[in-house]
Parts: sequence; C-alpha cells; structure tokens
Amino acid sequence: MSDQEFRSRAIDAGRPSAARMYHYYLSGEAVFEVDKAFGEKIFRTFPYADVWARHNRGFLQRATRFMVAQGIRQFLDIGSGLPTVGNTHEVARETAPESRVVYVDNDLEAVTRAQDLLEGQHALDTTAVVEADLRCPDLILEHAETRRLLDFDAPIGLLLVSVWPFVPDSDRPYELMAQLRDRLPAGSYVAMSHASLSEASAEVKDRILALTELYKQTSDPAISRSRDEFAAFFDGFELVEPGLVHAPDWRPTEPVDSQDPARPCNFAAVGYKP
Ligand SMILES: C[S@@+](CC[C@H](N)C(=O)[O-])C[C@H]1O[C@@H](n2cnc3c(N)ncnc32)[C@H](O)[C@@H]1O
Repeated sequence: MSDQEFRSRAIDAGRPSAARMYHYYLSGEAVFEVDKAFGEKIFRTFPYADVWARHNRGFLQRATRFMVAQGIRQFLDIGSGLPTVGNTHEVARETAPESRVVYVDNDLEAVTRAQDLLEGQHALDTTAVVEADLRCPDLILEHAETRRLLDFDAPIGLLLVSVWPFVPDSDRPYELMAQLRDRLPAGSYVAMSHASLSEASAEVKDRILALTELYKQTSDPAISRSRDEFAAFFDGFELVEPGLVHAPDWRPTEPVDSQDPARPCNFAAVGYKP
C-alpha cells in the first residue's frame, strides 16, 4: 500500500475487528454486539484466547520496562490497540516520567479511544496517537505528531507487538520491517511478538487453524508464522537475552506454567540495533 493509498477505515459495528476482539479477550468488554457474539465463538474454538492475550500484553509491558532500563525515553508503538490497563506510556512513566510515546493504529475505534484517554490524562504534550497503517511506514515516520515527539537522532523503542499477523506476505512485511529498521537510530530497540502454531500441541494447532478461519470474517484476517519466519523480522538486529522465546518466557517476573497450552502459541523477542 502506498502512502497515497491509505484511507481511514470507518468503524464497522456489523463486523468484528482485530483491535476490538483483542480488547474483548483482555477486558471482557464487547464494544459492539457483534464482538460479543463473535468472541463467544472464538472462545469455543480457542478457549485460551484470554490467557494468550494476557501473555502477549505482559510481554509488551516487560519489554517496555526493559527498554526504559536501557535508557530509552521515546517509543513508537505501532498496532497499539484499544487502550487498556498498563499502556506503553503508563508503563514507561513508572520509572521515566519524561518518556514520550507515539501510538499508531489503523483501527478508528482504537485511535479514538486512545485520543480520549490521552486527552483525559492531559498527556497530549508528550504522547500522541496517529491513525495510520503499518504498510505505509513513511506516513508514520513523517507524520507531524511523530516528528513533534520523537527525535530520530536518539535511540527509539519500537513496539510491533502482535501486529505482523495482520500483514500477509503479499504486502511484503519484511521489506516494511527493513524500512522501519533503516530509519531507527543506532542504539534503538524493537520488541515484537507473533502468533504461531508450529510448536503447539496437535490439539491446539487444530484450534489455531480453526481460529484463523474464523478471523477471515473480521476486518483483519490474521496468519501465524513459524519460528524462522518470525526470526527473519529481526534481520539487522542483535537479539537481547533470552533471544527468541515463547512470550511468557521472555524475562518473566512470575513463575511460568510449562503445561499452559497457550504458552507456545506466541513467539516474542527484543532486538537491539547496533
Ligand atoms: C492483537 S492487537 C495488539 C495490540 C497491542 N500491540 C498489544 O500487543 O497489546 C493488534 C493491533 O494491530 C492493529 N493493526 C492490525 N493491522 C494493522 C496495520 N496494518 N497497521 C496498523 N495497525 C494494525 C489492530 O487494529 C490492533 O489494534
């Protein structure tokens, strides 16, 4: 998609979106009636959706805290979703109140809610939300709000957490990632996670395949990728310890349940740009 082709997507109360469904898994709140009905179908197909979402969100928060500990004070969070408890700017500000964050999403409900939250918190001097598509990196990087808040001469923390599943190979995700990487200053970090079925049990694999079929009914069909396919997004980055692992295993702060069926369904890693 070229920058010129980007069009704001109207909120569609008749069809679920990835952002609203993820919000439903995390919070139990259905924005529209259709989200509740679809969510119930999802839980029958993949009863671990809420656990999976919490693992994913937990990784985002731990990765953000890690970056803050490395001295990162500015974040670009692409595919940020509907705001929930523990958003990136809130997590970063636990220890670095001067942190600046630009949120980006192509879902208007996510953008509107984030804008309302930031306005309500009187946080718009140091945070912003941009309605844009990951498939238009220049639009994101050159956006006036991105330029207002992020200094591209200092390291940036880039978050692409559970957003690549919505970018099929036909949209050349690795080229998009290379464009983002090339624009990041040396010393920057990227945190990414990606749904995967390759290391799940046979029963869970079948469930994920059925889930992928269901997602074709949403505005954001999703795919999973293998460990190697996910690793390829980190081309040009050095993986920080513990490397590429299942999301709950990335620097956990609580004991990890090795029998948890949702555990192998999401890869996660943080890369450093030397
Ligand atoms: C599963 S949610 C993840 C939210 C958040 N990053 C997290 O991990 O907690 C995926 C988000 O990516 C957004 N998204 C999907 N495709 C996108 C695209 N092409 N450009 C920008 N955002 C996108 C969705 O609207 C949704 O809010």
